[in-house]
Amino acid sequence: MILQGKNVVLGVTGGIAIYKAVDLCSKLVQAGANVDVIMTEAATHFVTPLPFQTLTKRPVSVDMFQLLRDTEMAHISLSKKADVLVIAPATANTIAKLALGLADNLLTSTALASRAPLVIAPAMDADMWAHPATQQNVQLLRSRGAVFVGPARGRLASGRMGQGRLAPIEDILGAIRQTLGSKGPLAGVRVLVTAGGTQEPLDPVRHIGNRSSGKMGYALAEAARDMGAQVILVSAPTCLAPVFGVEMLHVRTAAEMHRAVMERLSQVDVLIMAAAVADYRPKHAAVQKIKKGAKGLVLELERTEDILGAVAKARPSLGKPRVVVGFAAETEDLLKNAREKMHRKKVDLLVANDVSAPDSGFGVETNRVVLLAPGKKEEALPLLPKFEVAERVLSKVAALLEAE
Ligand code: PMT
Repeated sequence: MILQGKNVVLGVTGGIAIYKAVDLCSKLVQAGANVDVIMTEAATHFVTPLPFQTLTKRPVSVDMFQLLRDTEMAHISLSKKADVLVIAPATANTIAKLALGLADNLLTSTALASRAPLVIAPAMDADMWAHPATQQNVQLLRSRGAVFVGPARGRLASGRMGQGRLAPIEDILGAIRQTLGSKGPLAGVRVLVTAGGTQEPLDPVRHIGNRSSGKMGYALAEAARDMGAQVILVSAPTCLAPVFGVEMLHVRTAAEMHRAVMERLSQVDVLIMAAAVADYRPKHAAVQKIKKGAKGLVLELERTEDILGAVAKARPSLGKPRVVVGFAAETEDLLKNAREKMHRKKVDLLVANDVSAPDSGFGVETNRVVLLAPGKKEEALPLLPKFEVAERVLSKVAALLEAE
């Protein structure tokens, strides 16, 4: 995980969304980051330093003139050690100070002294956010490389609806991870991942589907983003939240997924087919809901598009994607079937998973896979969280790209 061992300086300013910053702080610590919190004086009116201090097990800095370890100036020390400076929530006031380069408190002084990437999560009243002064400050900071996440739309502290809510914590974490990984091993590489199980309509209210939750594909999209890639995620219906920093394309059927993949094929360096794509669809989807009768029901099915098959045909003339990864979901003879699929689907890497095990494959948080590549030794991975499987797959992809 990209946050492991990273030095994150978390600046917290005086807005009501501050209670969410405690959760952000906790999640950063849980992900293995070393977190130093700087609070503005206004922030301390909303919460005391205690929750941040308890979570980070480090002193929380508020006072501009406090010295760290006797002689070290806090703003210089924190600005130099930061791998990333995050300000969440960021008020309109602090954003204005950052845009002007003011250094009138410990947080703004640290920001001015730091050359670390800056992630800003604004939270304020909708009219303050929409004010031309704030918008110009945001543009200016963006032009200097600051990454903004949010604000989100919804109910504000005033009770009004509007844009001004702190972005969801998962999005702020996503922005931090993407920023930290921007120079990673897949920097500049365009990756298309498919995820989830396609649905083939029988009638307006029913479909033929499968048990894919999308977790494996979404983990691949997140891990690729964290390694610096520009990611497109073609997702069949799932319950999962969109992945921050990833272009999301929502599809339903195998035919729609086929179209989405083929339309973007010439733009991508890597294709990873983690989706469970239906092999058959009803030949005729009923226009109205099928009524139940006294007898059974016979459905006529036809083959869907073989997406990897179409990719293999298009690849020689397109010269893209440079690397194609397929998955094999097997319930018997895992390796025999996977080897056959690797050759038939003409992929550079095949991820074989035994989906009959209760802790691996569909729906669960973990996966147990074997990695197969033509002419290379097969590599069986232990049972791992899907995100770690994704990281291992993408390391192989990075090596294949480098070996070209
Ligand atoms: O989504 P989760 O709940 O996290 O579960 C993850 C998973 C089990 C779905 C995933 O790990 C997985 O195995 N995905 C591939 C499932 C599958 O369709 O396997 P397959 O053996 O039927 O297909 C082989 C390959 O051909 C796959 O890469 C598939 O995307 C692709 N395919 C399949 C059918 C089709 N019409 N076109 C294709 O390109």
